[in-house]
Amino acid sequence: MLDRRDQELVEKAQEATARAYAPYSLFAVGAAVRSKSEAIYAAANLENAAFGLTICAEAAALSLANSMGDPEIEAIAVVGFDFMHPADASQVVAPCGSCRQLIAEAAQRANNNIRVICCNARLNSIFISTISELLPNAFGPETRRVRQQWPELHRELRASAERLMATRKKR
Ligand code: THU
Repeated sequence: MLDRRDQELVEKAQEATARAYAPYSLFAVGAAVRSKSEAIYAAANLENAAFGLTICAEAAALSLANSMGDPEIEAIAVVGFDFMHPADASQVVAPCGSCRQLIAEAAQRANNNIRVICCNARLNSIFISTISELLPNAFGPETRRVRQQWPELHRELRASAERLMATRKKR
């Protein structure tokens, strides 16, 4: 059902569940994003004693791709694993509302409709969708004016940062 690239993506998300820090919910989530340059970035959920600070696996994976300078995402796989009931492993996880909003922004940024592959931990129950199906009429167009200027501003940001780094090397 999945092609070779999507199969690799779900496997990376499955592997990431092992790195979850989930001592409160005891529910591990792994997410893996694939960029247009075919790189895969995977991450797990990161919980906190102040529950509301929890970072979802999808948010962490998107942030990782961005931090690696490779933010144009075409697909995301999500795997959920209730590790207190490993024999079950049947629950398919779909991105929460906040993560859908983050994926929608990533889709706007990459100018494509991101494929969302939701899986159970065994990878034998898989639901394939797109972000526009999961979050129709997403909030976003209001910020267009700023976004249109962003590529130019981003080039300036990179140039300024490089100048700062050059100064550092001279010292
Ligand atoms: N979680 C995710 O990582 N992604 C989602 O889309 C749904 C929820 C995490 C947050 C929390 O650590 C645990 O799953 C239980 O809600």
